[in-house]
Amino acid sequence: MDIELDRPDDVDNWTELMLIYTSALKQIETKLEILNEEFQHVHCYNPIEHIKARLKTSESIVKKLKKHGYESTLDNMVKYVNDIAGIRIICSFTSDIYRLADIIRNQQDIRVISVKDYITKPKKSGYKSYHMIVTVPVYLSDRILDTKVEIQIRTVAMDFWASLEHKMNYKFEGNAPEHLKNDLVECSKIVSMLDTQMMMLNEEMQKYNNGC
Ligand code: GTP
Ligand code: MG
Repeated sequence: MDIELDRPDDVDNWTELMLIYTSALKQIETKLEILNEEFQHVHCYNPIEHIKARLKTSESIVKKLKKHGYESTLDNMVKYVNDIAGIRIICSFTSDIYRLADIIRNQQDIRVISVKDYITKPKKSGYKSYHMIVTVPVYLSDRILDTKVEIQIRTVAMDFWASLEHKMNYKFEGNAPEHLKNDLVECSKIVSMLDTQMMMLNEEMQKYNNGC
């Protein structure tokens, strides 16, 4: 029987929880590696450039709970913090992002809880990325726990932009000078143009392919 992780009596200690989230990350990472290899085999092409996985630190979890006005309890963190386990998938082209999102969505054991498409609708800052919150079953010796994982999918160019923007926010603690913010918005437009042109160039190149 599946047990929802947001039932407080299922899991009662931090170490066990972290073990469960680590297992969820491993499961998704392995799944993605297999899909990538299969894609190479069938289509002679890797949609994934690389994958980064991380567990949120206890400090960040507590900070997020505080920010949203929740007490720092294990129940609250499981219920309200969706990105304790996070995976970032970096692709070459925007088309790969949607292809991967569809493949993930169609996996039998993955349930999609929510999607935020900041590619079709970028943030005001210029941030672009495709976010999914999913659950994956983690098989323990005596039960199965559906565990939440945040998946972010973006191109190399979008990732390059996001890491500089993240650095800027960190440096100025969220209060960066207006001209720097504006410059970043301009850069995000260049990122979009570059992504579009590179994708078109790649599609053009595909027409010349004879086998692999
Ligand atoms: P968080 O509370 O920050 O997790 O955001 P959220 O719950 O509103 O969800 P959202 O999908 O907007 O953001 C999830 C994650 O995406 C963040 O934790 C960041 O890793 C990343 N992200 C979102 N917006 C930005 C942004 O403007 N710049 C950068 N660099 N990263 C962002
Ligand atoms: Mg986050």
